[in-house]
Amino acid sequence: MAKQSNSASMPNGHLHELFVDELRDILGAEKQLLKGLKKLSDAAGSEKLKQAFDTHYEQTEGQIERLKNVFSSIDLTARAKKCKAMAGLLEEAEEIIESFSDQPEVLDAALISAAQKVEHYEIASYGCLVTYAKLMQHTEAEELLRQTLEEEKQTDVLLTEIAISEANAGAEEKNK
Ligand SMILES: [Fe+2]
Repeated sequence: MAKQSNSASMPNGHLHELFVDELRDILGAEKQLLKGLKKLSDAAGSEKLKQAFDTHYEQTEGQIERLKNVFSSIDLTARAKKCKAMAGLLEEAEEIIESFSDQPEVLDAALISAAQKVEHYEIASYGCLVTYAKLMQHTEAEELLRQTLEEEKQTDVLLTEIAISEANAGAEEKNK
C-alpha cells in the first residue's frame, strides 16, 4: 500500500489552525522575552555579553513587527497568547540570576546558558512555522519567518562564541 505523506494525512484546514496557534504562541513569547532580555542585560558582567543582549532586544522588537507582517500576509489580525514555555524559561533565568549573583565569574556563563535555552526554543518554533508556511504555500510568510529563524541561529552562535571567549579570558585571569 502506498505510504501517505504528511501533507496528505493532515487536511490543510488543520494545518492552518496549528500555524495560527503557533504564530500566536511565538508572538507572545517574543513579547515576554523583551522583559527578560532587559533583566539578562542588567545582570551581565561582561560588556560583550551585555551588548549581545541589548542587540538581541532590538532584534526582538523587529521580530515582533515582522510577525505582525506575517499575520497580515495571511489576512489575520496579530494576536498573541501567553507562551508557557517562555514563561518557564524566563522564570528559570531569574532563579539563575539570584543563585549566582554573588559569583560574577559564574553568573555570565549561567546567563548565556539560560539565553541559549530561549534561543533553541525559538529556533524550534520558527523552524516549524517555516515548514508549515511552505507546505501551505504562504510564500511571503515563509520568507519573513525564515529571516527571523536566521537571526535566532546567529544569536545562538554569537552566544557560544562569547561563552568560549569569556571562559578563556577567565582562565587567563586565574593563571596570572
Ligand atoms: Fe526572537
